[in-house]
Amino acid sequence: MNIPRLRVAPQKKPLRGRIFVPGDKSISHRAVLLGTLADGVSIIRNWLPAGDTLATLEVVRALGVLIEVDEKETWAWDLRIEGRGLNGLSAPSGPLNCKNAGTSMRLLAGIMAGQAFPVVIDGSEQLRKRPMRRISDPLAQMGALIESQDGRAPLHITPAKLHGINYEMAVASAQVKSAILLAGLYAAGETSVYQPGPARDHTERMLAAMGVPLESDGSWITLPAERPLSLKPLDLTVPGDISSAAFPLVAAAIIPHSEITLVNIGANETRTGLLDMLQAMGAQFSLQNERETGGETAVDLLVRFDELHAADVSGDMVVRGIDEFPIMAVAATQAAGTSTVSDAGELRVKEVDRISVLAGELRKMNVPIDEKEDGFTVHGPLRLHGATVDSHDDHRLAMSLAVAGLAADSPTWIENAQCAHDSFPAFVEAMQSLGANMKWEE
Ligand code: S3P
Repeated sequence: MNIPRLRVAPQKKPLRGRIFVPGDKSISHRAVLLGTLADGVSIIRNWLPAGDTLATLEVVRALGVLIEVDEKETWAWDLRIEGRGLNGLSAPSGPLNCKNAGTSMRLLAGIMAGQAFPVVIDGSEQLRKRPMRRISDPLAQMGALIESQDGRAPLHITPAKLHGINYEMAVASAQVKSAILLAGLYAAGETSVYQPGPARDHTERMLAAMGVPLESDGSWITLPAERPLSLKPLDLTVPGDISSAAFPLVAAAIIPHSEITLVNIGANETRTGLLDMLQAMGAQFSLQNERETGGETAVDLLVRFDELHAADVSGDMVVRGIDEFPIMAVAATQAAGTSTVSDAGELRVKEVDRISVLAGELRKMNVPIDEKEDGFTVHGPLRLHGATVDSHDDHRLAMSLAVAGLAADSPTWIENAQCAHDSFPAFVEAMQSLGANMKWEE
């Protein structure tokens, strides 16, 4: 059987329309993991059934948790999770497979460190290459017994008594912060984590909604020694994922005369770095109908094409938009002047090395990106040429290359683009409904 490639043709007509994007991936992972630990039934609406989050769903089912699914849309499910309480999970019959999902593996490790049974946590070849010491080191300081393969998965975890620690993260990582706080639920005493930048705070918001009295001054987040022994169930509607909205958003910002609306997009301040970057580049967008959903802020995003200019990005903006650099680079190709990204060394340990792989693929389309150890430089505006490019099995790279293809002067083929499904099921259909020239080809 031939593996389909994504064919993208030059976009001569403006993108127009109003679409929903699937639910937030970070919140969807956490809703399942935390709902599992609640005492009682959690109801999660607009949950994201993507490759990564489905891996989390299967993992918690393997731990004995009952989850009923109502498949409202192929890309939006409602879940009913029968929580087992903090100590009610069952030993799985084999290794827990997180597939490509780093968030799943790292958060799960925090929870598994506190269980009374041994487990093995594993994942795909891609996930087995990603660094795990960033969680196994602090968890070991809490007393956890974790054996890794030279700092990589599979992780073998054996039961141990945990105690709280004060831990200063070297880089601002929501996955590390969350793993420590989740292990803290099983630890004697107080657990505190210091974050050197505003890493996404969905775990803290969800734990607060479940009755956990977390304290935070923005830098130190503390789980006090005195806390309830059980977690209240969740009842929430997941907002659309701003990290998925990023692709149609940038497409509309760079394709002449486009105007689109992205409905019900999460606008948590720890996630809106891309909006700040686009604003600095002169993009035209507005946030409308701000409302609360599931303890998070959601908005409708209206985006119009305009000429862009270059911007320099560093510091907190990087932390708040860490997943958006592949698509930000595409925007920078269409901006007048030299755009520079710094302080973004973390990009090298994402699904792939998102600096060198991105630079390598965009070069095929006539984008001479200068790589730096902690970022990159793009000299725009550039005339993009169509080419055959490869996602390297990285969902955000696949979708960024698809948007670059729309701005190119001849057709682009993206090999291994099906991985877009890891975070954005029906990405191609969503783009087609805005009038984008892309389709699967055998
Ligand atoms: C995530 C945190 C980020 C992000 C990832 C999702 C999360 O990773 O890149 O896609 O849901 O906690 P780091 O915590 O490693 O920065």
